[in-house]
Amino acid sequence: MAKLDRCLNIDELRHAAKRRAHRMVFDYIDGGADDEVTLARNSDAFNDYDLLFKVLSGADDVDMSTTLLGAKIHVPFFASPAAGHRLFHTDGERGVARAAHKVGTIFSLSTLSSVSMEDISALTTGPKWFQLYVWKDRGLVKEMLDRAKEAGYRALILTVDFPVAGNRERDPRNGFSIPPRVGLKQAWHAMMAPAWMLDYLIRPAVRYANLSEDTAAVSLQEFVNEQFDAGFNWKDAEWLLGEWGGPAVIKGVVRPDDARHAVDLGFKAVMVSNHGGRQLDRSPAPVHVLEPIVEAIGSDAEVILDGGVRRGTDILIALALGAKAVGFARPFLYGLAAGGEAGACRALEILRDELRRNMALLGTKNIAEINRALVQRRPSS
Ligand SMILES: Cc1cc2nc3c(=O)[nH]c(=O)nc-3n(C[C@H](O)[C@H](O)[C@H](O)COP(=O)(O)O)c2cc1C
Repeated sequence: MAKLDRCLNIDELRHAAKRRAHRMVFDYIDGGADDEVTLARNSDAFNDYDLLFKVLSGADDVDMSTTLLGAKIHVPFFASPAAGHRLFHTDGERGVARAAHKVGTIFSLSTLSSVSMEDISALTTGPKWFQLYVWKDRGLVKEMLDRAKEAGYRALILTVDFPVAGNRERDPRNGFSIPPRVGLKQAWHAMMAPAWMLDYLIRPAVRYANLSEDTAAVSLQEFVNEQFDAGFNWKDAEWLLGEWGGPAVIKGVVRPDDARHAVDLGFKAVMVSNHGGRQLDRSPAPVHVLEPIVEAIGSDAEVILDGGVRRGTDILIALALGAKAVGFARPFLYGLAAGGEAGACRALEILRDELRRNMALLGTKNIAEINRALVQRRPSS
């Protein structure tokens, strides 16, 4: 724990994760598609904005709370969905769900989670969303929707930037698969990650916990391309909204016309996201396309920015440009890989504390006061 306390920011948690985790696991979290141009751009793009702070506005008692699809949350951010948390640390999704509950925000569970949706649902009373990838097997899709409803998930996130798996070259280079396959190379790397290896060996095997049958150890790319429906289209999305019957979020949109189409179809929130630079490389940074999407949607739905957030100031920029909240994954995944639930908690607390301090420095007492007049795009960018 003492080591986690010494991590002052998300980048230091990233380094701590790199030291503890097996290389294939760290690279799975950290990596992106192709040349990782979009991956880097997602965070770099926040540097194109300046925050125009107000003075003498009496920001002594900062209130960070807001709502997202009707859920009251203590901070304007939440945990975006990510696959297989137990690969990173045995605390897995349980650790992150508890950490999200502790800071008072939403936890979203991936279709490809390593703890089942029922187990996570029973863990905390906090709001939870379920993320869906669309299986070729529509029976399985319906079954998952029914289970998520039954387990009390309040919203559905439909991820649409994943018709096929992106080309993440670090994974085949490391021989990464789910569940992990340990050959010579992996065993060699494991010697440099003894804490991770011990944890991995003495705990129950990592598997896709929402599926009833165990899957063979294959690359994520093979698994996705075999199981997911790349032909899924707008008409199918309409069908899905009908099957779900509750609030739904579309995740992975970078174009105003797609965002408008989704809202017209009935989605209640749009996540402006490129999957953290893991899918189409050279797609734009979410923060660069946020404003036109906010304009296209107006007050018809909520807009969430997801991707590249590493500082409280990044959250402020996104909110000032019109996002209702932000999502992120790597910050708490680095924390989880570095130190389990305590590490995930540390990540969320770092961002919460940075946001509180920066809201005061910006001269804003609450989320409603964060507006377009407080941010400007740098003239040179
Ligand atoms: C290791 C990892 C696994 C992910 N798995 C999923 C997933 O199962 N479903 C999904 O919709 N997005 C998934 N994502 C994407 C995240 O939800 C999110 O869009 C992205 O990570 C945001 O970028 P950030 O990590 O810079 O915050 C994953 C991201 C990472 C890093």
